[in-house]
Amino acid sequence: MRKKIVAGNWKMNLSLEEAKALVSELKVKIDNYRNSSEGREMPQVVLFPPFPYLTRVADVFVNYDQVFLGAQNCHNEDQGAYTGEVSAMMIRSAGASHVIIGHSERRSQFGEGGIVLAEKTRQALKNGLTPVFCCGEKLPEREKNAHFKVVADQLLEGLFWMHKDQLSKVVIAYEPVWAIGTGKTATPDQAQEMHAYIRKLLADTYDQGLADEMSILYGGSCNAKNAADIFRNSDVDGGLIGGASLKPDDFFSIITALKP
Ligand code: PGA
Repeated sequence: MRKKIVAGNWKMNLSLEEAKALVSELKVKIDNYRNSSEGREMPQVVLFPPFPYLTRVADVFVNYDQVFLGAQNCHNEDQGAYTGEVSAMMIRSAGASHVIIGHSERRSQFGEGGIVLAEKTRQALKNGLTPVFCCGEKLPEREKNAHFKVVADQLLEGLFWMHKDQLSKVVIAYEPVWAIGTGKTATPDQAQEMHAYIRKLLADTYDQGLADEMSILYGGSCNAKNAADIFRNSDVDGGLIGGASLKPDDFFSIITALKP
């Protein structure tokens, strides 16, 4: 079933003490919300802390049916001599349920492309993790009007090799690279246009049932002020939030801006 989701990607930020403070503030807000009448309608919240904090955060939210934990990346192999890497199995066994695959920072700074990202997605699914698969164009690509093709190619390489039953477990995040961490957000119309395009691509490649079922999140300078306008669009099922997810008040405003 299509889900409403607000995800927080902390990236490589926060000391453990800072992370604990953020989590305890968030927990209080979520508890209050759940105890109020509105609480029944809270969207799914997925937190993506850095690897070393995963078990700590998992322990805090262990009995929360709407709060999930994820890792920001995983390796594309099962196990082995890959010093410094973390496998999907390890992430799962640390209490996480999600993993971000193909974030633009991984693509541009760590050279991750189609084949590796397809393997990472396969690893995630094999180990029972929900992949949050990122796609999005760079500014020159949008200026050349190539953004639809870029996103289609990324989805084709990273996801469209798989069977419909597997794909239905994936969450897609559209994150235009020019909007990530820049303060320059896509307009609600630009977000809706791309999300509708992605959904049509899913319908054409697979079928309408799958397209209707999949959650597509927007990411890129989404904040407490602009979230409601972006989320109002029919094909936007929530957000993948970077900078604003480090501020409990802002992140919580974004959570409540997403109506079920
Ligand atoms: P931002 O990052 O909200 O800071 O732009 C989003 C992301 O990279 O997922």
